[in-house]
Amino acid sequence: MAPDPAPVLIAPSILAADPGALSAAVRAAEDAGADAIHVDVMDGQFVPEIAFGRRWVEALRNATRLPLDVHLMVANPRQHVEAFASAGAQWVTVHAEAAGSVEELRLTVEAVNRSGARAGVALKPATQPDVLDRVWDVLDLVLVMTVEPGYSGQTFMRDQLAKIERIRQQLGRRATAGEVLIAVDGGIDEHTLSGCVSAGARYLVAGSSVYSSRRSVAEGIAALRAAIG
Ligand code: DX5
Ligand code: ZN
Repeated sequence: MAPDPAPVLIAPSILAADPGALSAAVRAAEDAGADAIHVDVMDGQFVPEIAFGRRWVEALRNATRLPLDVHLMVANPRQHVEAFASAGAQWVTVHAEAAGSVEELRLTVEAVNRSGARAGVALKPATQPDVLDRVWDVLDLVLVMTVEPGYSGQTFMRDQLAKIERIRQQLGRRATAGEVLIAVDGGIDEHTLSGCVSAGARYLVAGSSVYSSRRSVAEGIAALRAAIG
């Protein structure tokens, strides 16, 4: 099946930026034509590290006009949804595994809907897309993790391409096809993105390929755009 011509969006992940210069990092991404800013929230339980609470999202909200896409890598995500939406997140993505059951996942996604943010569900590499069966009608985005969540700078997991393809096929069979964005997160650079886009991804989260000591943010985003074609 040929990939559809929908635009491919780029969201730099500020987890990979200099923590002492986050405002400058988001402005550089905005100036370079990024489509959103991806903010990884970690609680030290769902993943080992701790990163970015609600007040960071408020500060980033004041530093850029770009949409903020908050990726909640936290246990009990439902209890945190409203705080991040009211802090200024336009997108709130929760992990299916953190919800614990399909019922709780549905309640969590509905809480995102009520908050006014757009709702995403992230899947760890071992999680199959069947967990989405009860939430397709309330979802805006599926985030396929192409590394184990927790750190920037890991190696892209090529075996996740089949999952992206499967999700695209499932979406194609639904009446609402085209309304749910497929996003990828982890190890995305100018070499790995084309397989994701061919498989159906239209939203690329990119950490260390944008925030790198090797090149400027503008060069990094330009390299990604060039590879998208
Ligand atoms: C990993 C995070 C990613 C990370 C991506 O758990 O969810 O958003 O910052 O960084 P790279 O692109 O370097 O893998
Ligand atoms: Zn992320």
